Amino acid sequence: MTSELASELRPLLCGTFGAPLRHLDEVDSTNSEALRWATTATPAPEGAVVIADFQTAGRGRWGREWLGAPGGSLMVSVVLRPKLPADRLDLLTTTVGVATVEAIRETTGADALLKWPNDVVVDGRKLAGILVESHSSKGAVEVAIAGIGVNLDLSGAPLPDDIARRAVSVAELTPGSAPSRAQVLAAILSWLEPLYASLATDTGAEEVVRLATEHSAILGREVELRFADDTTRTGTARRVLADGSLEVEFPEGLEAVRAGEITRTKW
Ligand code: BTN
Repeated sequence: MTSELASELRPLLCGTFGAPLRHLDEVDSTNSEALRWATTATPAPEGAVVIADFQTAGRGRWGREWLGAPGGSLMVSVVLRPKLPADRLDLLTTTVGVATVEAIRETTGADALLKWPNDVVVDGRKLAGILVESHSSKGAVEVAIAGIGVNLDLSGAPLPDDIARRAVSVAELTPGSAPSRAQVLAAILSWLEPLYASLATDTGAEEVVRLATEHSAILGREVELRFADDTTRTGTARRVLADGSLEVEFPEGLEAVRAGEITRTKW
């Protein structure tokens, strides 16, 4: 760790996550770089972090592009090596989401909430997105990369209008007293490490689900869900279930939704 960011980060770290750290000016995607690093001959250990000032091919869920304003976003990926039962793997996204929500609440004081399954929102506007990607070998997950993108300051390099309208930044939430990129990152890592470790036990996994419920932006609300095949359905979000899926009350009855995206919410 030699960059200025790394020097600021080091004293803020309170666990093992965050070292070693690779800080790049530019990369295709921090998730891709973290996976390359995690699967080389001298692989990155659990908790290793890749952070970039700019991504040329940052990605979001479902193959979408993720645009981070140069210098105005936290773009980071954390290497995880989960030894979890298969039915708990989807909780990784929930765990990273909860850690990010808690870190934003702590560093900004804003009422950040989790919009299932992978967005952090404030007053319905997106502040951060999570992309967990896993790499399996012989049928078991060998490494999972937890990618997190946080809007720090959107004023320098404005996003396209339609995205900007639905986005919010840390700078906007904390005029004149914004936490630094290192402070936000340190807070995320210090929430993530213990929450992730706790997934190994039933009570730990239950606590992650409880926090995801407590900080949910959508439970009790009518939502429109879009699925991978591009179909949509409307129902009322009822519960976050033990495996991280969302229980939705559709006109046809209650169903557990494992993969989908909320495209509209009645606030
Ligand atoms: C989403 O909102 O769909 C998820 C966005 C995830 C973006 C982050 S930025 C750091 C990491 N690297 C990527 O290419 N994507 C994630």
